[in-house]
Amino acid sequence: MKVLIVGGGGREHAIAHALRASRHHPEIFCAPGNAGIGEIATLVPVGAMEFEALRDFAVKEAIDLTIVGMDDPLVGGIVDIFEEAGLRVFGPRKNAAILEGSKAFAKELMMKYDIPCAKSVSFDRAEDAYDHIRHAEYPLVLKADGLALGKGVLICKDEEEAKAGVRQIMEDKAFGDAGNRMVVEEFLTGREVSILSFVDGKTIRLMSSAQDHKRSGDGDTGLNTGGMGTFSPSPFYTEEIDRFCKERIFQRTVDAMRAEGREFHGVIFFGLMLTKDGPKVLEYNARFGDPEAQVVLPRMKSDLIDVVEACIDGTLGDTEVLFEDNAAVCVVIASGGYPLAYEKGKVIHGLEHFKGRDDIFVFHAGTKREGEQIVTNGGRVLGVVAKGGTLKDARAAAYAATKLVTFEGQYMRTDIGKSIDEA
Ligand code: AMP
Ligand code: GLY
Repeated sequence: MKVLIVGGGGREHAIAHALRASRHHPEIFCAPGNAGIGEIATLVPVGAMEFEALRDFAVKEAIDLTIVGMDDPLVGGIVDIFEEAGLRVFGPRKNAAILEGSKAFAKELMMKYDIPCAKSVSFDRAEDAYDHIRHAEYPLVLKADGLALGKGVLICKDEEEAKAGVRQIMEDKAFGDAGNRMVVEEFLTGREVSILSFVDGKTIRLMSSAQDHKRSGDGDTGLNTGGMGTFSPSPFYTEEIDRFCKERIFQRTVDAMRAEGREFHGVIFFGLMLTKDGPKVLEYNARFGDPEAQVVLPRMKSDLIDVVEACIDGTLGDTEVLFEDNAAVCVVIASGGYPLAYEKGKVIHGLEHFKGRDDIFVFHAGTKREGEQIVTNGGRVLGVVAKGGTLKDARAAAYAATKLVTFEGQYMRTDIGKSIDEA
């Protein structure tokens, strides 16, 4: 069996790693991949947005299954193009990926189907948004409608900041066309939790919970990033919260998409905030989280290929999705300066220490091979993951494992998973 993964970050490395454990023993291809993925898969030098070239490759190589890791190609309609060519592909079609691709769409859906979320209003015209913020309560959250690398969310403490935010998003187009529409929403407080799930159009199977650390600095200070580390499961995601979400959020979202004629096949990632008034959806993503996948997939007992195939075929109701009863922590090692300017091309040392281990892993994000060496090639460079019987053990093991790798200018947070002490 031949499987193609589309993407080239830590999430896609974690997907490739999970595929290696499959009973189907797939031959793995990854476009474009990175140096770490290149050690377990054949890298295909085609960008994730080059849909026709990817389709032609899949047809020519007789790829049996394609797994799309990234949001941009999903929102751009890669699944439709593959399906038109008769290829099997895992991920939502364009009309369903809009769940992530348009925040205004997601909000309208949640309001229509009574799914708990922050109160919000959407605007197509900057004048109307300016008008609204004059009478709003603060703090207030502004969101560019479309994909913006996780950066299109502005939290404004007063009208002045909100005015500057509207200008930035809708007039200066700081996030490009993502800012053609804008959502203005109520500011919520609480702990965040990421719940990833497999969906086959009608049935939903949850993965183990996780928590991301989005800010660059210790103590959740500094700029927002793609994610500086994760842990799984989240001790704050209690049985009571799970019951509430099952009743009011998860299945209801899947049914809502179906009722709208946008049947969702793939991964729905629920970004939840546990507020004092109960869990609320902050955002939906239409794919595995990064770096959530790095702590969730290594704990999955079920065969990823079987589950993915069931999502495509609509047979998830007959398929178990089981996780190990343990914990995992991922610490991201980034290039100094990220998420602002940083240098590339630094040689990474020590990667060999992870070979043959099944308790610690190093998932590559921004890396590339240069001759015999592996060098940094992005802001987030590596995700060092450890499993343990408890979150505390996993955290200690993950931080110990970060000491095995070095590169010039490396930076990481020192408090990933520290909040579990409060649980
Ligand atoms: P999103 O891309 O919608 O997940 O937003 C990115 C981050 O902004 C979230 O993970 C939250 O930390 C924060 N955020 C988003 N929406 C809200 C909100 N309504 N209230 C408070 N924080 C928010
Ligand atoms: N870790 C957050 C995301 O993947 O969007």
